Amino acid sequence: MKVLICQNHAAAIERTAGLIVDHVARRPDAVLGLATGGTMLPLYERLATLYSEGEVSFANVTSFNLDEYVGIAPAHPASYHSYMKEVLFSHVDIGESRTHLPLGNSPDVQAEAERYEAAIAAAGGLSLQLLGIGQNGHIGFNEPTSSLGSRTRIKTLTESTRTANRQYFGPDETPPAYAITMGVGTILAARECLLLATGRAKAQAVAAMIEGPVSAVCPASALQLHPHATIVLDREASGDL
Ligand code: GLP
Repeated sequence: MKVLICQNHAAAIERTAGLIVDHVARRPDAVLGLATGGTMLPLYERLATLYSEGEVSFANVTSFNLDEYVGIAPAHPASYHSYMKEVLFSHVDIGESRTHLPLGNSPDVQAEAERYEAAIAAAGGLSLQLLGIGQNGHIGFNEPTSSLGSRTRIKTLTESTRTANRQYFGPDETPPAYAITMGVGTILAARECLLLATGRAKAQAVAAMIEGPVSAVCPASALQLHPHATIVLDREASGDL
């Protein structure tokens, strides 16, 4: 596990964007695992700028997002489909047919999870998986006690995750209780993992991930077992190390 502690938030974003650009430069047909969440917003904005400046092309890149809410249609404004289109896909040259997210409103979500896992394998596996971290140590939507060998499946969201994500839903909407998420095992199978965490609120989860025991209580701690995992932090997120 390589841990990069950056001076400030802007430097952490710049460093992470640089690592992704380098990966795609080395491997133009990269298969990127992508993450959502507030942490990723400035990162995707920076990648869009680098694309507009001719520093990177995603024309031959394939992407698979980590997760999607169950029961939410792709067109719903709070879906991860909408998020990705809005903040990244519509600003870069990645072909729509090369972008993949689980279909949260599939009539058979269990079958959809299995189909998604098979689609990742059929694409040759993930060359780089980008990750954020939840305040409870989740990666994707692998909440605490998720099996470290798990594959794409349905997970029940914890109350704290639902509370954290409530802001993205309307005042009259109930935030989803379930998600389809890549498993910890799916994530660990990526050839490289790159986790970005910024801000004081993530410090405790970051310390558990890096310095705690490898345990399903903190699913992100499984990254200690990965041979090519890079963690990019700003000073605040590294505060409990
Ligand atoms: C969400 C996502 C994760 C994300 C995490 C942190 O629920 N499923 O992929 O990394 O929680 O989100 P944020 O960056 O908004 O703190």
